[in-house]
Amino acid sequence: MTDKTQKKSLTILGSTGSIGRNTLDVVARFPDRYQVHALAAHSNVELLARQVEAFRPAVAAVYDPEAAQRLRERKPRGGRTAILTGMEGLVEAATAPEVHHVVAGIVGAVGLQPAYAAVAAGKEVSIANKEVMVLAGELMVNRARESGARLLPMDSEHNAVFQCLNGAAPEQVRRIVLTASGGPFRDLPLRRFPAITKEQALKHPNWSMGPKITIDSATMLNKGLEVIEARWLFGLPPERIGVLMHRQSIVHSLVEFVDGSVIAQLGLPDMRTPIACCLAHPQRLPLELPRLDLAEIGKLEFEEISQDRYPGFFLALEALRLGGGMPAALNGANEAVVAAYLDDAFPFTEIAAILKRVMDQLAAVPLAEGAPPFLRHVATVDDAVRADQFGRGLAAALIEQARGTPC
Ligand SMILES: NC(=O)c1ccc[n+]([C@@H]2O[C@H](COP(=O)([O-])OP(=O)(O)OC[C@H]3O[C@@H](n4cnc5c(N)ncnc54)[C@H](OP(=O)(O)O)[C@@H]3O)[C@@H](O)[C@H]2O)c1
Repeated sequence: MTDKTQKKSLTILGSTGSIGRNTLDVVARFPDRYQVHALAAHSNVELLARQVEAFRPAVAAVYDPEAAQRLRERKPRGGRTAILTGMEGLVEAATAPEVHHVVAGIVGAVGLQPAYAAVAAGKEVSIANKEVMVLAGELMVNRARESGARLLPMDSEHNAVFQCLNGAAPEQVRRIVLTASGGPFRDLPLRRFPAITKEQALKHPNWSMGPKITIDSATMLNKGLEVIEARWLFGLPPERIGVLMHRQSIVHSLVEFVDGSVIAQLGLPDMRTPIACCLAHPQRLPLELPRLDLAEIGKLEFEEISQDRYPGFFLALEALRLGGGMPAALNGANEAVVAAYLDDAFPFTEIAAILKRVMDQLAAVPLAEGAPPFLRHVATVDDAVRADQFGRGLAAALIEQARGTPC
């Protein structure tokens, strides 16, 4: 945005999802500050059509060609929106010259190409789609440095760190600590894990989010992915990134500086706050939301992460330790396993069991003759995608074996 009277022009990738809908909620409150250039989704035509009618974007990108055709036939009122499709459509929406800010709110690795294209085009890019940073965090950060793009952390924990850092250099930071709610099973006796139902796993105690991240929160693989995301967003080695369980989800993360000061960011668990922080950066939006009342909350508790309860978290740390394309491979495997779980293929406990076997296989790879180079080093976006696919391939056979285990 060059002049104060000009509105910031936005592309929202994943507009029909939880992040997308919350972003549009914030945008709708400030019509004098933001205009929507493009909305993008996979196939939820009904909601996308309503969003098109409400926000009148120049472009709607629908990844699935059949859904794009349905949107054309539905003829959203207003009539001026160009309807694009496929990966090219997402990339075009993310890189249009008139776009200033791109919200990367797609779920999964499929969001990498448009997010990377937005970075290469020098946009301001808000990163909610953490899988992008897990697959190709180093590439994203390096490309942003070259193009002048700005990466803004929208994930609540990373946004909290971003706010606490307030521009401080990595050498001023001793470590950062991400917080984790513990998900729906933080108090469930371990012996009852085999009986967990999908409905229970999809019921997060503190946050309302899409199904994939909600399952990742229940296994806590999500927090491991967030450590990987933080490693690249903040340029810190893994040993300077800690995690604490904090069941109230009020302290979103903390930064410990080299002089012993610890700065935390607090707020109610509502994604509209980090979203507003990213959209308005470096300004603040006067957002009327329920206020944090610490006296009412009473106490804030912190605990170590239990290895028995949350094996998914430790698998992601292992992938980060192995480096190269291992995080991308684990991510691909996890996406495949969670999709199968949501499709009722097997019980909840199989998710971590399958991923453990995938990680065992991955850990053996660097020693093997002729190991795929993309697992050793991710030099390009294609490498990241190949590593992700490799992990999906390993998971596929194990998913088939587990399919049919009584839920
Ligand atoms: N929800 C949260 O509070 C939260 C917080 C922090 C981080 N995140 C991260 O933000 C990302 C989005 O999460 P979410 O909870 O918003 O997920 P969600 O509710 O499941 O929404 C996913 C969005 O991605 C779109 N999408 C999926 N595949 C696509 C494709 N091939 N092309 C274009 N669009 C595609 C979906 O479109 P359709 O609706 O058409 O399928 C939908 O708009 C995830 O990476 C998550 O980890 C979310």
